[in-house]
Amino acid sequence: MASRATMEGKGTAVPVEKDPDILAAAARMAGEDLCSIADLSSGEVRAILRLGHDVKGNPREYRHALDGKQMVLMFEKASLRTRLAFETGINTLGGNAIFVDQTNQPLGERETIADVARNLERWVDVIVLRTYAHDTITEMAANARVPVINALSDFEHPCQALADFMALEEHFGTATGLNFTYVGDGNNVCHSLMLAGAQLGANVTVATPRGYSPDIEIVTKAREIAEANGCEIRLLQDPQAAVESADAVYTDVCVSMGMEHESTKRAPIFRPFQVNEALMSKAAPHAVFMHCLPARRNEEVTDAVIDSPQSIVFEQAENRLHAQKALLLLLLGGLANVKAFSS
Ligand code: CP
Ligand code: NVA
Repeated sequence: MASRATMEGKGTAVPVEKDPDILAAAARMAGEDLCSIADLSSGEVRAILRLGHDVKGNPREYRHALDGKQMVLMFEKASLRTRLAFETGINTLGGNAIFVDQTNQPLGERETIADVARNLERWVDVIVLRTYAHDTITEMAANARVPVINALSDFEHPCQALADFMALEEHFGTATGLNFTYVGDGNNVCHSLMLAGAQLGANVTVATPRGYSPDIEIVTKAREIAEANGCEIRLLQDPQAAVESADAVYTDVCVSMGMEHESTKRAPIFRPFQVNEALMSKAAPHAVFMHCLPARRNEEVTDAVIDSPQSIVFEQAENRLHAQKALLLLLLGGLANVKAFSS
């Protein structure tokens, strides 16, 4: 497990409460939204991860940090990890979660999103949304005076990427300089990973079938960030070439929630992009396998890979809790209630 000891082991000499990235993030992020990884600076991504490691190693230090804070989760799509990590996360920080199932009534249908925002902000301290349209999240954020968090939209999944890079830091000590390869659909998860990888100085290679590459706006943004951080973003169509020298190989379903009508069309297109033992053997011998889950076993990844010792998928899932707790602490100003930070 990572935590304070590991992070000190990799040369982080400053205590967490004096970490300049965390102090700057606490000042800038309080009251803000997280719609996209691009809302964060590199220092803020580093801050969330460092704080996440500390929360994981020392959960008791933070257990009253968000006393009395109320969180609402409004989800238009199914969830196991994101919902449970947010609910257990706020509960273990002293706050409370209220879940609203929107799977049968998308947000904006019964009343405008702006009107929903103007109601919610009077009762709760943070709004967590899982939606089809990314615009639903940005519209809520534009209209609510409390932080709004993207818990997955059709465009991004920022909370996932934060937990994933936390898992990589645990495994490799740092994400900087890592060769990170994503194989599969250029989707929401892929977008957030590209941005987060670039923020942390990882070389990100993405291999997708032609016509399924990541959105150009994300590619441009990720390349801009990568240039500033001395790393690169490559887009390929050949999964074999993409995994060569990879330290981490990541995949996701080829049919995301809401795209089920494309299943039959997509299956043969994505078959050559399956992560199996033959593909993993082309990566570095020490490479880890990653997946955001849920996986469609023996479709985008074989049992032999996801159940192998190389797989860190449950470490990723575990870190959803700690990364999201760190994010809540920063957006809700919770560090002011943590002894080490306030003394
Ligand atoms: N990875 C992820 O977001 O899982 P859930 O869909 O179960 O929340
Ligand atoms: N890309 C997937 C991720 C699920 C966590 C989807 O959007 O369904």
